[in-house]
This record gives sequence, structure tokens and C-alpha cells, in this order.
Amino acid sequence: MGGRLEGKVAVITGGASGMGQASALMYLREGASVVVADLNEAAGKATLDLATRAGHEDAIRFIKTDVCEESQVEAMIALAVGAFGRLDIVFNNAGVGGAMSPIVETRSEDWDKTFDIMMRGVFYGIKHGAPAMKNTGGGAIINTSSTAGLGGGSGPAAYSAAKAGVINLTKNAAIQLSADRIRVNAIAPGGIHTPLVPAASDDEMKTFMKGKQPWPDTGQSNDIAYAAVYLGSDESRFVTGTTLLVDGGLLAWGPGLFPHSGASRTSGMRMSSTGAADRP
Ligand SMILES: NC(=O)c1ccc[n+]([C@@H]2O[C@H](COP(=O)([O-])OP(=O)(O)OC[C@H]3O[C@@H](n4cnc5c(N)ncnc54)[C@H](O)[C@@H]3O)[C@@H](O)[C@H]2O)c1
Repeated sequence: MGGRLEGKVAVITGGASGMGQASALMYLREGASVVVADLNEAAGKATLDLATRAGHEDAIRFIKTDVCEESQVEAMIALAVGAFGRLDIVFNNAGVGGAMSPIVETRSEDWDKTFDIMMRGVFYGIKHGAPAMKNTGGGAIINTSSTAGLGGGSGPAAYSAAKAGVINLTKNAAIQLSADRIRVNAIAPGGIHTPLVPAASDDEMKTFMKGKQPWPDTGQSNDIAYAAVYLGSDESRFVTGTTLLVDGGLLAWGPGLFPHSGASRTSGMRMSSTGAADRP
């Protein structure tokens, strides 16, 4: 593999850890130049070191960025255009767990902070990324949502509401920016083993997901990076306004009423093959 993003210039927020970092490194391998924008300077430096060791030092920059601050988002876009001459892809991926308390105990400031990072940050990325892409003749914006944005039981209230907002912001922006040949899509990860989740190991994550996620393996950062390569590349030239689920079948399961090979055999509803016909 290689060359699927040849010559493209990308900005990745939250690019210093987890799925953002995996995407940055995969983008480099696929021929893109990358600006990693993240609040965490130490992790940013570690990401630069990883890229340098892989021989990509000329194609990567780091800028300390708080995606809640509009001027800092403007600066990250300006860095991409200044350093690499154009902008093709913005991956609005930065995120945190946000307000965790039950809804009746959630403080307004924690609710607002969650929305600042996960929704306002995405809004700024689109607002300031799109004009630079228009100058390039088009581009791709990718926003990280979550399975929490598609169901009520996958995350805390503020997080779930913000991630649901990302999905519809994605659709709205896709419509507005189509005329400029800018595609806007979202990725909805399921449970992915990154520093964001409390699981210490893949096995612990697997145990936590058992009976919920049909696919037997633990979701990894690279699973999201592959989706981001597809949505950033010209292979997805006719794909816009969509949300790509990368969740090991988590949401396909729905209410999980019927036993499944990945679920505990002792749980789940039993169903008669002949219905009422075999009742005495
Ligand atoms: N891990 C999962 O299971 C999972 C599932 C669904 C969605 N997500 C989403 O995926 C995205 C990436 O998460 P991850 O799991 O890779 O977590 P992570 O903690 O490994 O990475 C998130 C990165 O975002 C950065 N960040 C946080 N606040 C920021 C801000 N204000 N400005 C700039 N950078 C900031 C952090 O410093 C960190 O480097 C997030 O949006 C998260 O909500 C994660």
C-alpha cells in the first residue's frame, strides 16, 4: 500500500494520540503532508519523533492548538497552507469524554466545555478549513462522531448529544460545500482501544465489549485511520454527507434480544421456530 493520498495536505486535530495519531502516521505513509494540531505538546513532540523515525520529518508539522479557540484553529490552517502550499483534508478529530455525571447533576460549565471541544471545535475546523480548500479546488473534511451520537446507551449525556450534533452538522456542511467540491463526512467509531478509554489492555477491552459487540476483535486506532484514508482520498469522490460506522457491528446488533454467537449463551430471548403452532 502507499500513495493513496499522494500530494495531499492534511490537518488532523487530536492528532497526537489514539486514532488521530494513527491517522497522521498512516496519512504520511500514503504520501500526504500532515499538520498535527493538538492541545498536548508532549504527545505532539512524541508524534513528530515517530514520524521522523519513519523518515517523514519533512512532511509533518506540529502546532499546539486548542480547537475551542477560533484564532488557534485559524493558525493551524494557516500553518498547513504556509508550510505545504495548499490544503486538501481537515480531520476534525479532537475529543474528550467530557461531562460524566448523571444528567441531573451535570454542571452547566461541564456541559458547555464538552460542546466547546466536540462541536464548536468541529465548526471552527469547517469554517476555516473550507475557504482554504476552495482555493485548492476542493477537498475533504472528516469529523469524528461516535456510536454515542446514534444511540442513547453508548456514552454520557453531553458527549452523546455533542456527537449526535456532529452528524447533522456534517450533513448540513456537506450540502453547503458541495458546490465548492468539498466533501464532508463523519466517522462513528465504536469501542476503540485508545488512551481515551479506561481499559488497560486489549483483553480488558474485549471483556468489556463481550455481549455488546459482535466482532470478536478489539477496535484499534488503525481501524479508524483506514476509514480516514478512504474518506480523505479521491476514492470517496462521490461520498459526502455520510457517517461511516466503524464499530465491529456494535450498532447492527440493536437491542440484542436474540442470542448471538458473540454473546453469552445464557442471555437473550429464545424464540420458537414454529411460533404459536408448537404451543400446547
Ligand atoms: N476511543 C473510542 O472508543 C472512541 C469512540 C468513539 C469516538 N471517539 C472519538 O474519537 C476521537 C479521538 O479520540 P481517541 O479515542 O483517539 O482519544 P485520545 O485521547 O487518544 O485522543 C484525543 C486527542 O484529542 C486531544 N484534545 C483534547 N481536547 C483538545 C482540544 N481542546 N484541542 C485540541 N486537541 C484536543 C487530546 O490531547 C488527544 O491527543 C474523539 O473525538 C473521541 O470522542 C473515541
